Amino acid sequence: MSTVSFRFSIDKAAEQLRSGGLVGLPTETVYGLAADATQGEAIARLYEIKGRPHFNPLIVHVLDRRDAAHITEMEPRADQLISRFWPGPLTLVLPSKRGGPVADIALAGLDTVAIRAPLHPVARALLAVFGGPIVAPSANRSGRISPTIAGHVVAEFGTDIPVLDGGPCTVGLESTIVGLTGERPTLLRPGGITAQQIEEILGEPLAEPGGGIDAPGMMASHYAPDAAVRLDAKAATEDEVLLGFGGTPGATLDLSPSGDLIEAAANLFAHMRELDRHGRPIAVAPIPEDGLGKAINDRLRRAAAPRN
Ligand code: TXA
Ligand code: MG
Repeated sequence: MSTVSFRFSIDKAAEQLRSGGLVGLPTETVYGLAADATQGEAIARLYEIKGRPHFNPLIVHVLDRRDAAHITEMEPRADQLISRFWPGPLTLVLPSKRGGPVADIALAGLDTVAIRAPLHPVARALLAVFGGPIVAPSANRSGRISPTIAGHVVAEFGTDIPVLDGGPCTVGLESTIVGLTGERPTLLRPGGITAQQIEEILGEPLAEPGGGIDAPGMMASHYAPDAAVRLDAKAATEDEVLLGFGGTPGATLDLSPSGDLIEAAANLFAHMRELDRHGRPIAVAPIPEDGLGKAINDRLRRAAAPRN
């Protein structure tokens, strides 16, 4: 597998999107596979290449609230969260605006849109030069580990898809998704911003999604390496490689030797990929369930879930 990514300028990337092509795009959370949000055919190709089920809608990326307001209805809770957390790793699910510009296929038949304004300077530069909304699911084959460096994207899709190299993602976990289409704000996916941070701004607790599939992408098995994954391991068996946290003795790799959850989040997907190369089962040390630990444990539970 090639790990070489090639330099690709913002202008060329914008041109590629305009002509219906796909581009590997760095964001502060993970690398995305970008397409013009208004071009149904480009998006159909994106689903195809990712191997993503068509009922799983995409996140629309914009520069700011003003651009978002062309696409979704706004409301006071959205404004509170946008003023505090945009640009940054927070996605809001809001009612879509009738006759908005986003191609239906990106929304998988829903009348809601997931939308966010990324913080990464390269993502912002591309949005500015391109001048329109961009859909970008994580740039991995469906169900697999999300990419946090440009080389991961090349490893997933080869060199046919050009990748803008923006260095390693600083957050390392996908954006937090908050649903604002019901009476209560709902945490649809834990991520780079903690539930606590959001609740502080809203002044009310976030509801957990009730039954059904509120975030259709939140399937049990996701973020899966080839190897089997065993959680809450005190130590590795002879067979296993060990992913440690906080200086776990005997760890093959440690997410954060000093026990820093921010560092651990940034390392999670790259370390999982690295350990997967050993071709042995992966044991994972316990990670504390507070702050970003909640999102890290969410990803690890899905990586360990029975595969279909
Ligand atoms: O950090 C991120 O959000 C990254 C970067 C590239 O921006 N993107 C990302 O996209 O994680 P993706 O496609 O891997 O995950 C999008 C999630 C899926 O779980 C999908 O089901 C959910 O967002 N989603 C999209 N539209 C939705 C909607 N209208 N209602 C509920 N969930 C939605
Ligand atoms: Mg994903």
